[in-house]
Amino acid sequence: MQFEANQNGLSQSLYWVFPLAVIAYCSAGYITTSLLQPEGTAYPVVASYGRFVPRFIHNLVYLLRATQNSEYGYTKFRGKAFQLLRNEGTVLLLPLSLLEELSKLPEDVASPTLALERDLVGDFTGLNLIVENRLHHTIVLAGEVIVGPSFCTNQVWLDISFKYTENLFVTIAILRLFPQWMHPIIYNLDDINILHWLCGVAKGNDRRPNTISHVLVLVALASVHTTLFRMVNVLYDVTAAGQGLREEIIAEIASTAAEKWTGVPYDKLYRLDSVMRESQRLSPPTTLGMKRFFKKSYTFRDGTFIPAGTYACMPTYAIETDAKYTPNPDRFDGLRHFRILDQRQQAGDPDAAKELLFSTPAKTNLSFGFGKAACPRRLFASCVVKIVLVKLLTDYEFSFLPGTERPRDFKVYEFLFVAPRQTMLVRRKKEGTCPF
Ligand code: HEM
Repeated sequence: MQFEANQNGLSQSLYWVFPLAVIAYCSAGYITTSLLQPEGTAYPVVASYGRFVPRFIHNLVYLLRATQNSEYGYTKFRGKAFQLLRNEGTVLLLPLSLLEELSKLPEDVASPTLALERDLVGDFTGLNLIVENRLHHTIVLAGEVIVGPSFCTNQVWLDISFKYTENLFVTIAILRLFPQWMHPIIYNLDDINILHWLCGVAKGNDRRPNTISHVLVLVALASVHTTLFRMVNVLYDVTAAGQGLREEIIAEIASTAAEKWTGVPYDKLYRLDSVMRESQRLSPPTTLGMKRFFKKSYTFRDGTFIPAGTYACMPTYAIETDAKYTPNPDRFDGLRHFRILDQRQQAGDPDAAKELLFSTPAKTNLSFGFGKAACPRRLFASCVVKIVLVKLLTDYEFSFLPGTERPRDFKVYEFLFVAPRQTMLVRRKKEGTCPF
């Protein structure tokens, strides 16, 4: 009886705790939103509901509509900078005219590493590791070989590299939903931090803190989601485009193989390359790119002033789907880049191949970044995606489940993910034509 009475008392007091917690949370949100939007903010803010709306709501809007709002701002303030609001503060979206200058700024002025660390909630996911210079270089070098041929088929490594990426994005999505002052509390709620997860999967001696292995999984982070995401989306796009496109790709593979399938055959698959570039244009791994954290204040040549402490980026998806640069921008046209490349090559332009490939950063191909900080392993990524796709497209047949269409990726903040548990029909061809 005594026990029951205590329990009733406890649950009654909990009735009060919840609303009080909500009020405290909203008040903190109000204060922090006010701090974010001081009077006379230099750049217009898109999707701001005013300082009376708690930061939580602004962040929820960012979670659900970062892409739409960046497109809206891009169209409304054409050629000018504007801001979005998110938990960590404001995000300044810069116009395309600043691309070249932005890409040349030194790390001590505009740091891509610090921007990434902020995106990945580094203090609580352990990814502040990337900010330390020597390790950061190790990560870039490790991308060269990742784990070497003898270890790359090791099931534990494969599990870790795949599940780490999956687990990390869930952790980041949850942490970024809440204001920064709550991160230590959430972090201590077991099970949703990377370290706990890593400790859980590691056995015996592997449980020792080991910087090298952490560095390796960071490379997996840079490479696993992005390449896998591309493979799946190209499969969706080719399947949705119909038999014609698929046959053209297969014919190109066959004619390349007829010459010789050694050396650099993948460099000759211009049609497949074009399909990959088009697929990445419409379903990039992130819709905001060229992310930089400004360590120092900087004034661009056109007068755009960026105060120190600003997180800035570019609305890359909005740029790549702008009709000014791409006709019928919302339509998947797998061979659109191939046709331009072919035309320019026929006209004897030697730079065509360099500028129009999947792996070539350009003003309208920004998913690998641009300039000196662009992805250092993009050629490797291009080759890996092609190897897998050649095998899949020549030896297997794919179709969507009856009555269904191309599955849509889902967006969380500015990131895109393949919808989990999505299924497709797949059948091995009786006579495959894979050249290897
Ligand atoms: C389709 C696949 C991929 C895409 C879309 C992609 C995209 C990117 C982007 C946007 C950046 C940042 C550029 C910037 O800051 O402006 C980056 C950096 C990086 N990527 Fe990739 N990437 C891909 C595949 C890979 C693969 C396969 C590896 C490794 C094997 C890799 C390793 C790296 C590394 C180490 C960095 C950091 C470079 C640095 O901080 O200096 N990426 N990638």
